[in-house]
Amino acid sequence: MSTERVRIFDTTLRDGEQSPGASMNTDEKLEIARQLVRLGVDVIEAGFPVSSPGDFESVRRIGAEVGDAVVVCALTRAVPRDIEVAADALTTAARPRIHTGLGASESHLRDKLRITRDEAVERAVAAVRLARTFVEDVEFYAEDAARAEPEFLYRLVEATIKAGATVVNIPDTTGYTYPEVFGALIAGLRENVNGIEDVTISVHCHDDLGMATANALAGVKAGARQVECTINGIGERAGNTALEEVVMALKLRPDLFGVETGIATREIMRTSRLVSSITGFRVPPNKAIVGANAFAHSSGIHQDGVLKERSTYEIIDPADVGVGGSSIVLTARSGRHALRHRLGELGYQLTDEDFERVHEAFLALADKKKEVYDEDLEALVGEKGRTVDEVYHLEQVHVSCGEPGIPTATVELVSRDGTELIDASHGTGPVDAVYRAINRIVNVPNELTEFSVQSVTHGIDALGEVTIRVTSEDGRVFTGRGAHSDIIVASAKAYTNALNRLLVATESAHTQES
Ligand code: KIV
Ligand code: ZN
Repeated sequence: MSTERVRIFDTTLRDGEQSPGASMNTDEKLEIARQLVRLGVDVIEAGFPVSSPGDFESVRRIGAEVGDAVVVCALTRAVPRDIEVAADALTTAARPRIHTGLGASESHLRDKLRITRDEAVERAVAAVRLARTFVEDVEFYAEDAARAEPEFLYRLVEATIKAGATVVNIPDTTGYTYPEVFGALIAGLRENVNGIEDVTISVHCHDDLGMATANALAGVKAGARQVECTINGIGERAGNTALEEVVMALKLRPDLFGVETGIATREIMRTSRLVSSITGFRVPPNKAIVGANAFAHSSGIHQDGVLKERSTYEIIDPADVGVGGSSIVLTARSGRHALRHRLGELGYQLTDEDFERVHEAFLALADKKKEVYDEDLEALVGEKGRTVDEVYHLEQVHVSCGEPGIPTATVELVSRDGTELIDASHGTGPVDAVYRAINRIVNVPNELTEFSVQSVTHGIDALGEVTIRVTSEDGRVFTGRGAHSDIIVASAKAYTNALNRLLVATESAHTQES
């Protein structure tokens, strides 16, 4: 008897991107999409095309890039214009899916949509019918389904199946439900909705009470055959079900679930690092599966057990999720060919121009720290191999600091038109002085809300990676990253990177308005 398959629907690029500060440009989304294909997801939700030209473009480019390897999905509200725009964005996709829907709970109907139940059913049916005129694969979502009245949910879902939905998504939008209750809701749908056996039931859970994975698994146990999730669990508010958690739970416990996924689990760690590096969302050390300590044993009793027999304290072989990696270490003498080859093995396809920048940075780093690890290469690609639209380029930074003394920084930025801009400032410390000097040049109101520095690998010569977040005057959050063996330089790069993102977003908002 063949094992049933649970489809993995990845929404890192849509729901994940909704985390404040996680916005990505199209090239970054493409890079993640390529890695999601390597990871073996079944569906990539590539964006919400009507929401911005950037989302529209991302859906188009991802559709063109991934071919028939995965289904490419675009989100819409149950609004004709949303659906038409999504259909237009999806014309490049070999396997397009429109994901449309509306609120199903009393709270959403009464307080948000201000419509009756009858009107909701009518709108949902019309949306699914319209979507079916463009694509054969239509997923209907009943937003806030976990708080909806079950009888109404059955009616709504049944009507959309009759209208042509191929997948029905039952979201716990507010992260309110509990595994037993959610499992019973999915079982209730299977018992009470005509036609449900002809469609796939999907679950989409949020983590407000820390139960997104448990709830999604309860859904699978009750018959859901698609799980919506994100890498590292990023997403709106407390985030979504973490892909790595749900996939490994299903893999580890066939005795409980009896299902399989198509995920190449050895790609999990790399995907996690890529998403963390692009979004600037650090993975907490104790995070299940992908945290730095997920496979670290510190107590003597545990270490003794693991040394005698790994399975005494380890339920997953770290290699199964890509932890441990390769022992290949590059040095300054490794040469261009070896570097290109290793980058290829790590999944990076760089243009000649991007490769040249990475190669140059690699030589500079190898000169300083002798041995360059995969993590260093990933940081370098993050820095040099991703085309970022730069309004200002950091040309040089010098600081003087110490005790006693007044921390002082001089900074040179080069603007897009090639103008060299130099300024200096003092501050409470060297980073503060650098940021003040940059602010004097760029002169855009912003507040620094987060600053963190982390070493990419171990040792005193490790590359330092700085991640920061700034909030613009109108409350938008932008992430910036910078990596360098000197953390002051990394800090300056991170700040320039964040301000560039803020400036580019402001420019494109103005272009849209005019
Ligand atoms: O959480 C939610 O309900 C969603 C829907 C748009 C699917 O993200
Ligand atoms: Zn969601």
